[in-house]
Amino acid sequence: MSGLDAIAGIGADRRRGGYSRHLFDDAEQQLREWFVEQAEKRGLSVETDVNTNIWAWWGPPGPGAVVTGSHLDSVPGGGAFDGPLGVVSALEAVDLLRERGFRPRTPLAVVVFAEEEGGRFGVPCLGSRLMTGTINADHARNLRDPDGRTLAEALRAFGADPARIGRDDTALDRIDTVVELHVEQGKGLVDWGHPVAVADSILGHGRWRFRFHGQGNHAGATPIDDRNDPMVPAAQLVLAARRTAAGTPDGRATVGRLVTNPGGTNVIASAVDVHLDARAPRGARDMVQELTGQAREFAAQEGCRVEVVEESFGDTVHFDPALRDRLRGVLDDVPALPTGAGHDAGILAAEKPTAMLFVRNPTGISHAPEEHATAGDCEEGSHALARVLADLAG
Ligand code: GLV
Ligand code: MN
Ligand code: MN
Ligand code: MN
Repeated sequence: MSGLDAIAGIGADRRRGGYSRHLFDDAEQQLREWFVEQAEKRGLSVETDVNTNIWAWWGPPGPGAVVTGSHLDSVPGGGAFDGPLGVVSALEAVDLLRERGFRPRTPLAVVVFAEEEGGRFGVPCLGSRLMTGTINADHARNLRDPDGRTLAEALRAFGADPARIGRDDTALDRIDTVVELHVEQGKGLVDWGHPVAVADSILGHGRWRFRFHGQGNHAGATPIDDRNDPMVPAAQLVLAARRTAAGTPDGRATVGRLVTNPGGTNVIASAVDVHLDARAPRGARDMVQELTGQAREFAAQEGCRVEVVEESFGDTVHFDPALRDRLRGVLDDVPALPTGAGHDAGILAAEKPTAMLFVRNPTGISHAPEEHATAGDCEEGSHALARVLADLAG
């Protein structure tokens, strides 16, 4: 908890509540500095890779590494635990292992992945997607933030070379196994009555942008039947998304972001962007295909048109069963839980034996200021992580 306390003042969002820490903003850069300081204080050697993920090495960087860590960025108005708990616990696990006189037989690294939430450039797990080549580097360089700045420009301003981003075999070749600890985003552990679990699977999920185009006009002077108001099909799409998800086994569909242009109370919008997050064990893309057909109808009824862009997608992830069972063995048969939340571990799972540990969240609330884990459970989590690392790197 002292690790979380140390960063509690960084990126607090007075307007939204909670934390807003986005790629390369002041808060995120302060968190990077804090991490480097913590790593160096422990004698770990720090490197920032070509995709701006940060690595802190116990022992010389090299192949066969056991890697643990998470991310320090947040959603807008997020909680204190999503991301930072995995980083703080990794540092704590290093301390615990050292106190016990443990010496790793393989290199051990603590990693901080960049832009896990996609809070600035819209693509979640950007750092791990770039590292694995899961996102095309040219496409990534041209991603734009809400102010219209490209990722290439942001990288340059940060001091990184946009030409070098993309699949990073140097980083990947060193990795043997990945274990990410994370606060649970749900109440699975509350139901089990356990402080810690291992992850079983992640729902297939993606993000789509529906842009409805209409005719901007005067809110008072334009009769109702003479409008092409893109907000109307946008609103219909929000309701359709709820209906479609409800009709899909374990389906979820969320519109957490709606952007109107130009955004005046007395102005009929000329365009509305509906940012859709859709998830399901099977068929998340089918849901969106169905919604795309409906969105076209809604748009036509209002004399508008719609464009749909898939911004990111990842299929359902099943974590390596042998590694999962090994962790469960080390941790005295803790439960194995599925999750609907995305993680860098889910991206790396396509290439490397990857596992996750979850720490109980008493309310299940996440991506909100109320996100929580008790000090006792966080301690259980870092001890569990230390046991797992000792097993994998010992
Ligand atoms: C990340 O936490 C996500 O699942 O969107
Ligand atoms: Mn998150
Ligand atoms: Mn997270
Ligand atoms: Mn006027």
